[in-house]
Amino acid sequence: MSRRSTRMVSWIGVGAAALLFAVSLRAGHSQGPDPLTAGKDAFLENCAACHNASHRVGPPLATDMGYFIRAGVPAQAMGGMLVHAVRNRPAESRMPSFAEKDLSDADAANIALYLGSQTKAPDAPVTLGTPEKGQWMYSVACASCHGDQGEGKGHAPALAAMMNGMKAMKAPPNMALGMVMLATRSGSLRMPTFPAPKLTDDQLKDIAAYIWSFPPPPPTAAPPKEGAKAEK
Ligand code: HEC
Ligand code: HEC
Repeated sequence: MSRRSTRMVSWIGVGAAALLFAVSLRAGHSQGPDPLTAGKDAFLENCAACHNASHRVGPPLATDMGYFIRAGVPAQAMGGMLVHAVRNRPAESRMPSFAEKDLSDADAANIALYLGSQTKAPDAPVTLGTPEKGQWMYSVACASCHGDQGEGKGHAPALAAMMNGMKAMKAPPNMALGMVMLATRSGSLRMPTFPAPKLTDDQLKDIAAYIWSFPPPPPTAAPPKEGAKAEK
């Protein structure tokens, strides 16, 4: 039986959250003149052939990163996600994995800074909306695939487990909003998009608040495999 794809989940899977802040401060320690230039060079050398906006094989990384920046996640906090994404590729991925000797953690984190720098950070702090409002929206637009309690179904990931994994790693709630924005707006995921005004920015903030409030999934006997679901 083939495993459920963990493709986009690796943007922010629980493993990535573990690295998130550990790596975030290491950007800038490579030999480049400054972190942004080093990040640009590393991106052009290793990633642009596939992630270039014009003739791309993979998703447009700068655009996708932009959802997190606009959600108020600092670019520094994205470094760990990128390290995780380049080191761990699912079996069916068309992207090669990069070992430390091919691309250092610092350079991967610099790539995150470089990609993040292409989107203007919000002037004022971004906050999530109201979970009570988000609950209704979620039940109408998302629950059919992601489950009433965020337990996940089929290919749709268990959002409750994802959010609680991030909370455990002290990720900011804005990460939930970034993920919701990426999922609903980008078209980079194998999931229907919900452009405005189908769902407005404020409604996405409410949904993010609701998803962030999911209680942790009940403990299972066996350690959960990524994509595995608790028995009903
Ligand atoms: C038709 C089914 C379907 C609906 C409806 C749906 N999703 Fe998804 N969603 C998926 C699938 C499948 C994936 C995994 C996509 C992939 O791996 O490319 C996913 C992935 C996600 C992710 C993970 C993103 C990441 O970075 O890993 C989030 C967050 C998400 N969806 C939020 C939502 C929200 C919020 C709604 C409602 C507004 C919604 N989804 C509606 C099927 C759905
Ligand atoms: C040979 C082409 C290729 C190269 C080179 C490549 N990628 Fe990818 N990348 C892909 C494809 C295709 C996907 C879509 C998902 C898949 O097939 O795994 C992807 C997906 C991603 C994702 C989305 C999340 C995920 O885990 O799927 C990130 C982040 C990413 N790549 C980062 C990078 C970075 C950073 C580099 C350079 C260090 C890079 N990629 C180099 C082809 C490539």
